[in-house]
Amino acid sequence: MLKSQSLEVERVRKDFPILRRRIHGKRLVYLDNAATTQKPRSVIRSIVDYYSKHNANPHRGVHQLSIEATEAFDSSRKTMMSFINASAFEEIVFTRGATESINLVRFAWGNHRIKKGDLIVLTMMEHHSNIVPWQLLAKETGARIEYVGITPDGSLRYDQFEALMGQAPALLAFTQCSNVLGTINDAAALCAAARQAGATTVVDAAQSVPHMPVDVQKMGCDFLAFSGHKMLGPMGIGVLYARRALLQEMEPFQSGGDMIKEVHLSGARWNDLPYKFEAGTQNVEGAVGLAAAAEYLNSLGMDRVRRHEEELTAYALEQMASVPGITVYGPRESSRRGGVISFNLGDIHPHDLASILDEEGVAIRSGQHCAQPLMELLGLSATTRVSFYVYNSHDDVDALMGALSKARRIFCL
Ligand code: ALA
Repeated sequence: MLKSQSLEVERVRKDFPILRRRIHGKRLVYLDNAATTQKPRSVIRSIVDYYSKHNANPHRGVHQLSIEATEAFDSSRKTMMSFINASAFEEIVFTRGATESINLVRFAWGNHRIKKGDLIVLTMMEHHSNIVPWQLLAKETGARIEYVGITPDGSLRYDQFEALMGQAPALLAFTQCSNVLGTINDAAALCAAARQAGATTVVDAAQSVPHMPVDVQKMGCDFLAFSGHKMLGPMGIGVLYARRALLQEMEPFQSGGDMIKEVHLSGARWNDLPYKFEAGTQNVEGAVGLAAAAEYLNSLGMDRVRRHEEELTAYALEQMASVPGITVYGPRESSRRGGVISFNLGDIHPHDLASILDEEGVAIRSGQHCAQPLMELLGLSATTRVSFYVYNSHDDVDALMGALSKARRIFCL
């Protein structure tokens, strides 16, 4: 039985109560981590603890509980600040997730900065959440969008990227790691080229921050978005990182309570950063749970998390290579991809395959993965996708391979 060289998976698994579940009488093999991840006991406990001992509305009271809730919220922000090495507390804005983070940039920055005729550069491997907001912005402002294509092995077409940077774009928005192909893009190089071209950068880090060390100062991005639920944290919480200078000059996103310093009948003045971008009562429980998740990941070590996923991906790719009729998408080398593998098996529809795998206790995702333009480019209606995380083992890959053999038998492949 092969074991991870990087993480003590058996010990990690004990921290996740849901992994004890049996599905259709079988051991749960959870391989749908790109969609959402499971939660360790420390995250669950942090939420129970917050509601059992400290709950009140932060920033609004002088009573003890409100002070404790404010402290819990602030301390969670500090944890997230250091998790991605932001240079200031003010640069971490809590949102509902990566989608809301990108929409915040669209409304609070894009609506005021993007003009008719401006060029917005995206890539063909984006998730819908990093396409649709920019399409709407382009429609409203008269800006145009160009997409960087991809090579047959699922890498970005750097020749096209460079040509587009030569057209003085106003904005470059790209994913650091594709949720379909697994491709890891060189975010620092892309941001450096965009900066030289005078473009502002938005990095969709929903599939990277949970899986590898991310340092926003080294990356040199302007904005970076990620979600809590894909990194062991709760749903409904996420982060927008933004350079302080940008946040200072931006207009508010949503408006109402807490994002103001003063309100008069004649108008209002905005609160300090980052509160200017956090209107209404915030998801303190979510922030506390997200910080607990970041602390859990820190205790494993993000370098080791990345190495573990690289090992599992390499093992799975090697096993899959010998399956007759399988087509795997994305880069061949595990060093160039995250722990996400999309594939098709013969002409079995991915939804049928997902149902057969589910009967074996193996949870995977099938469909377009919120990346329809990429599917169209690949000439596919859907793929089957497995995605790994810290609690997955070589045994999980073996269980997947066994379930794929069963599917091949059922469909006489
Ligand atoms: N964006 C998530 C995924 O790729 C939902 O599955």
